[in-house]
Amino acid sequence: MRQIADLPGPSGLPLIGNLLQVERSRIHRDVEKWAREHGPLFRFSFGRSAILGVADHELLNTLLRDRPDGFRRTRYLELISREMGLTPGLFGSNGDAWRRQRRMVMAGLDPNHVREYFPSLLRVTQRLRGRWQQAARGGHAIELQPDLMRFTVDAIAGLAFGADINTLESDADIIQRHLDKIFPALFKRMFSLLPVWRWRRSKADRELAQSVAAVNTAIAEFIVQARARLAADAQRRTAPPNLLESMIVAADSPDSGITDNEVAGNMMTMLLAGEDTTANTLAWMIRLLHRHPEALQRARAEVLTVAGSVEQFSPERMASLDYLEACAHETMRLKPVAPFQAVEALRDTTIGDVQVPTGTLVWCVMRADSVSDTHFPDPMAFKPERWLGDDAAASPLSSAKRVSMPFGAGPRVCPGRYLALLEIKMAMAMLLAHFEIDAVDTPDGAEPVEHMSFTMSPLGLSMRLSPVRTEPGNNSTLRSH
Ligand code: HEM
Repeated sequence: MRQIADLPGPSGLPLIGNLLQVERSRIHRDVEKWAREHGPLFRFSFGRSAILGVADHELLNTLLRDRPDGFRRTRYLELISREMGLTPGLFGSNGDAWRRQRRMVMAGLDPNHVREYFPSLLRVTQRLRGRWQQAARGGHAIELQPDLMRFTVDAIAGLAFGADINTLESDADIIQRHLDKIFPALFKRMFSLLPVWRWRRSKADRELAQSVAAVNTAIAEFIVQARARLAADAQRRTAPPNLLESMIVAADSPDSGITDNEVAGNMMTMLLAGEDTTANTLAWMIRLLHRHPEALQRARAEVLTVAGSVEQFSPERMASLDYLEACAHETMRLKPVAPFQAVEALRDTTIGDVQVPTGTLVWCVMRADSVSDTHFPDPMAFKPERWLGDDAAASPLSSAKRVSMPFGAGPRVCPGRYLALLEIKMAMAMLLAHFEIDAVDTPDGAEPVEHMSFTMSPLGLSMRLSPVRTEPGNNSTLRSH
């Protein structure tokens, strides 16, 4: 057996280790580079304690499955979140608190609930179409991420809270504006050299506190509204129609162990976990499809065969968009918005041939094997076909899914994955059915930078659209101007 200290890794400085060799906004790439240089098990440090880097998908599968007892999310994440005034929901909880919440949240996000929610998701998709139609008619460029985030916030608010917050049609996007500050701040603090915010509150710290307070107030208001709905209609208590109402019902039953605080914490978690991830995946997907016209045409042909306009979308039709789903998997293989995860060992254990003492921080490099030619032929190419099983050269589908883990793995795998895939398919199918994508570019025309800020996003993409007209009964699309 090897000790962590025996492992290869970049040499660092006393006290701060390798902290100065990474840049926060591209930290995932810096650590991926170390994995390429030093192999699938390596060591580095951000401060005094050693961090174990793991880049082998089999080892990652094993350790991510050893939760919640063997590994937890890091204590530091919890500390920083609490300091910011955020109550841990499912993402930040561990141990028994996590177990209790996981059951409840999973029930609200399972495929049946997501299906019941389809009409609201359709309404949100129609609003996105309306917003983009306006831009297309006016010849305006669309700032891709902000629009996609409005879409994902509206979608998650409807499903999880039963609330129609409609940031797509209103400019008073209070929640959206504040959320945009919270995630990046959390990420920034996690990788700060010193916790300066504890000694001196800067203007940014004060604004952050205001944003957290504003979102907490909005959440408290959602809870008041949900309680009023439950009081007005006793039937709702037996079959709560959304996650918030089912959480309130659970919290009200004396033996559930769910507290009011946990209810509020999970609302914040849903907003944070469901917003950036899905919006950034969509942004990468739109960019990649625009850069690969053959794939785009095939995806569009599939959409037009199945449902040529948003009004024809149905859960069954969305489920039959196999090629579009393959495009999503291929996007997430190349551009996983969560390219790394940090966990902490809860007991002495081993990873591969390395002894791992209790308390060790483990950095899971999620993308290394997904872009390696050992597992995917021509790994850097965008080839959605590899996910269809109709490409003889591709690795078998099941093993591809074991290598590329955009939603994580094991008992803590993302509970929002069905919803995310449905949102992605609906937004993309709407885009392909109703618009011609004229451009998806960065301001300087260069490849978009992978910008890490809790999730990994393409920096500064804007899109230009023009309307397409479809001939009835014909899959070909015609420009309407
Ligand atoms: C493309 C979109 C998404 C991606 C790529 C993604 C990715 C992830 C990943 C990598 C994790 C960590 C899994 C692990 O620890 O193994 C996670 C956890 C989580 N995600 Fe997602 N996610 C997405 C969308 C969503 C949505 C839409 C929601 C909410 C409805 C959501 C809610 C959560 C929650 C609550 C957790 C914590 C689960 C736990 O710790 O038990 N995610 N997600």
